[in-house]
Amino acid sequence: MKELKIIEWLGDRIRIIDQTELPHKEVFLELHDYREVADAIKKLRIRGAPDIGVAAAYGFALGAQAMRASSKEQFLAKLRPVSKTLAASRPTAVNLFWALERMNKAAQSGKSVAQIKRGLLVEAKRIEAENDEANRRLSELGAELIKDGFTILTHCNAGSLATAAYGTALGVIKMAKEQGKRVKVYATETRPLLQGARLTTWELMKENIPVTLITDNMAGHFMSKGVIDCVIVGADRIAANGDVANKIGTYTLAVLATENGIPFYVAAPVSTIDLSLSSGADIPIEERSPDEVTHIQGVRIAPKGVKAANPAFDVTPHRYVSAIITEKGVFKEPYVEKLKKL
Ligand code: MRU
Repeated sequence: MKELKIIEWLGDRIRIIDQTELPHKEVFLELHDYREVADAIKKLRIRGAPDIGVAAAYGFALGAQAMRASSKEQFLAKLRPVSKTLAASRPTAVNLFWALERMNKAAQSGKSVAQIKRGLLVEAKRIEAENDEANRRLSELGAELIKDGFTILTHCNAGSLATAAYGTALGVIKMAKEQGKRVKVYATETRPLLQGARLTTWELMKENIPVTLITDNMAGHFMSKGVIDCVIVGADRIAANGDVANKIGTYTLAVLATENGIPFYVAAPVSTIDLSLSSGADIPIEERSPDEVTHIQGVRIAPKGVKAANPAFDVTPHRYVSAIITEKGVFKEPYVEKLKKL
């Protein structure tokens, strides 16, 4: 997807592809204000952990650019609500907070208002470039786990759309194909918001990688029939012990994979690892509107007034994770010491 820029800095605004409109329409939106960036993240127009991190960094730089102040102290005070608004957009993907922390540090280190503004843009661009490098490197390392002829099951969307770069789970698959391996993908539709059906299939078809769409509840069937050689997913946050928060339904897939003796891999940049949390139990899980469950693409499918739950992520205990693929290496159990060293 080289031709498609997922997030683009245009000097005084950010251009994004609206992921809620895909695959039917390729709609580009221009965001002129950091509040618009926060809103786009909240509404999943921009989504996927690394993508959210890059967007937050540019959102911060955009907010800073519009700010006027007579002293560094006043400027930093004015930047606080920018950071707070972006941080409040979504709670689970740690890349958001990681990027904002880097931006806040960059702001502190500038001497004058003008210098801080310039420094923030440099830092946002660096975050984007490093993210791209990390995606490619982890994809290369992960591709070593993929054999010629593999059929890989993936969940949600962890490709270019989710990373504003090469991709993580889909990056590994793309790299394996670039290396000349024949690979096939089974993509789960990923209810409630269908990132698999709408986005992963769209990306893979653009890459000419054979993909079969299945509903989430078909995964066990295909695993038990011996169709799937491995499962690869991305992550929104990885705790210090290797527990992984990812799109709701990931835990189910990990248990099914283990039961069927199928390797279950998690591909994510180091920026997704949160060493401040000792286990996945502490990862905040976003609870989204029940309407996303009672409706599909705006069409009601459940009786009016029915109660619905909508946790957007779940936590897969590390014992189900065969390996965590990062740009710094592929790690297997026990995770604690290895992740700490990163
Ligand atoms: O709610 P979303 O679409 O932002 O959820 C995204 C996922 O769960 C992805 O699998 C994860 O962020 C990894 S993206 C490389």
